[in-house]
Amino acid sequence: MQVNTGLRSVLGHPAIYDFFQTLMGSDRIRRELVTDYVRPVEGMRLLDIGCGTARILDYLPPLIYHGFDLSQEYIDEALLRYSGRGTFRCAMVEEATLQGEPSYDLVLAVGVLHHLDDESVSQLLVLAKSSLKDGGRLVTIDPCFDKDQNPIARFLVGKDRGQNVRTAVQYRELGCNTFEQVAGEAKHRSWIPYTHWIMECTR
Ligand SMILES: C[S@@+](CC[C@H](N)C(=O)[O-])C[C@H]1O[C@@H](n2cnc3c(N)ncnc32)[C@H](O)[C@@H]1O
Repeated sequence: MQVNTGLRSVLGHPAIYDFFQTLMGSDRIRRELVTDYVRPVEGMRLLDIGCGTARILDYLPPLIYHGFDLSQEYIDEALLRYSGRGTFRCAMVEEATLQGEPSYDLVLAVGVLHHLDDESVSQLLVLAKSSLKDGGRLVTIDPCFDKDQNPIARFLVGKDRGQNVRTAVQYRELGCNTFEQVAGEAKHRSWIPYTHWIMECTR
């Protein structure tokens, strides 16, 4: 669930969304996410749930990429920009949409969990686990509330379109309900104060 009124409504436009992300330091964040958490290997199979405009592809080597997003506008932009780099579908990822697909080495959910209520997160986690190879990983990143965070970060995190921003403890607990092996950390950003929870769940 997300708020789409006022200023936040314009974020539905792919170009404005990408510009806003860049302003918030997305280049450095994506680079860090890929290097430290995705750790891509050429040719690996990657499922990107809530891929948006698929900008993560700018940071990845050649691999087998399948992106899904609920927004047709974001998917159209991904198709324009990254044609030939993967498949892009406007759909909510469900068991049915993945049927017949071989398992994945990595499932990504970048900025997705905080849009979903606990039950939907649990469904996403179960789906991610069932579509991973043994030893495969789910990597997530979301805004996060933290008692040590800068008040500006707390304010900005609270203004997110997602209506389910959680604390690190809450995100971790959800991860642990489905995966036995869960690692994560709260990252405090300083360019524009902000806090992210990054989680790595291994099957
Ligand atoms: C904050 S955006 C992040 C987009 C992209 N991952 C990125 O890093 O730029 C969250 C995205 O998740 C998508 N989304 C939310 N719930 C979803 C669901 N159940 N299935 C697929 N996409 C979903 C939204 O349409 C939105 O594009």
